[in-house]
Amino acid sequence: MEHYVVKGGNPLSGEVEIAGAKNAALAILAAAVMANEPVTIENVPDVSDIRAIVGAVTEIGAIVDHPDRHTYVINGAFIKNEPVDNASVRKIRGSYYLIGALLGKYKKAEVALPGGCNIGLRPIDQHIKGFRALGAEVQLAYHGRVSAEAEELIGSHIYMDVVSVGATINIIMAACMAKGNTIIENAAKEPHVVDLANFLNSMGARIRGAGTDVIRIKGVDRLHGTEYSIIPDQIEAGTYMYAAAATKGDVTITNVIPKHLECLTAKLIEMGCEVIESDDSVRIVATRRLEHTNVKTLPYPGFPTDMQPQISVLLGLSKGTSIVTESIFENRFKYTDELAKMGANVRVEGNTAIIDGVEQYTGAAINAPDLRAGAALVTAALAARGYSEIYDVHYIERGYEDFPEKLRSLGACIAKVDSDDEERRAINRFNFRVV
Ligand code: EPZ
Repeated sequence: MEHYVVKGGNPLSGEVEIAGAKNAALAILAAAVMANEPVTIENVPDVSDIRAIVGAVTEIGAIVDHPDRHTYVINGAFIKNEPVDNASVRKIRGSYYLIGALLGKYKKAEVALPGGCNIGLRPIDQHIKGFRALGAEVQLAYHGRVSAEAEELIGSHIYMDVVSVGATINIIMAACMAKGNTIIENAAKEPHVVDLANFLNSMGARIRGAGTDVIRIKGVDRLHGTEYSIIPDQIEAGTYMYAAAATKGDVTITNVIPKHLECLTAKLIEMGCEVIESDDSVRIVATRRLEHTNVKTLPYPGFPTDMQPQISVLLGLSKGTSIVTESIFENRFKYTDELAKMGANVRVEGNTAIIDGVEQYTGAAINAPDLRAGAALVTAALAARGYSEIYDVHYIERGYEDFPEKLRSLGACIAKVDSDDEERRAINRFNFRVV
């Protein structure tokens, strides 16, 4: 086991490059198995969730080549369409995309129920509703697997009861190899939904309207090989933007699509931070303590739930009282107990956090409860006075490539140390030797 040791207080400064979007890559790597030809996918982030989905597609018989750190070539020609149930699949949320991909391609899929961050109930009823509307019989099979099967998938008109990224993507995948036309209404509009649709279109699918709340799909018989590069990660970019602001830094974040960051930049500007945008970068300059604001998480283009812990960390250091409302997941405030150990003044009432800003956090030993909250707590530690230790960093490494390294390049004092080696841990605590 490893953990991070952070010595806070250095304003972040310099330039950091953003990796490909994890949540787009999870969907695209699963969708790649739908072709019987090689599919080359570039700009894939090197994080543990991606290694898990690659493990899952390899296990079902896809031929996977990994010519460089950020590129995969996947050939789904030799897949054995047997039940998909292994440790990789159960570990991550994105493995449920194999249901849509295999159902679309083979009209039959049996996949273990997904894992992922424990941030709420995370039902998959909308995925199932969509598969059933396309004519599949869906049931919970042996050992907690979802089984879906159809003689033939037939295009349908599907109205989503909730806006769901996962269900929208899964239904697109199945529908793009159904007979006839499908319309998905109240679809999710997140950038990774658009990226997945663009990817499938580059394989010969006929999907229109991705990025709006009505998506129209004309089914095709087969998908072919392609070469595709994943969009930059909106949430990784946002995390560095908010870390820069929390540490009163000056950071330029490169390889981003500023349009995808609009609601994040709007909040920073509202709080008194300087934001300078160019074509593919955004610079954050925060020289003084920021003002309070209120935030409510919403589906895109609203404020993303995946940035809720990061903005709460920032609001915890801002002047006055802020209210943060989490409207997507029921259990996404667990990190506030950890933040309180660092001196934050946060009270949670149902789906609302009431935050009274303090001048400064102080270092503490804290646990990362999930991916985004873990990253947010690291940014709190970077802004804090003194040393912090952050445990359970395997959550953070699910979605952030080279997190300590990138932060160090911005002047942060952060090291990943071996938790089992107490002596080394003590040395590292004071000298910051990196494992
Ligand atoms: C995706 O999760 C992301 N994960 C999450 O990112 C992200 O927080 C979330 O979208 C919201 O943007 C992946 O892409 C792998 P949803 P997903 O279906 O698809 C309810 C991260 O940190 N719902 O859009 O599981 C659900 O309970 C992760 O990178 C149903 O009721 O989210 C939630 O309240 C964490 N029935 C809401 O919809 C369903 O069938 C949105 O969930 C499906 C969802």
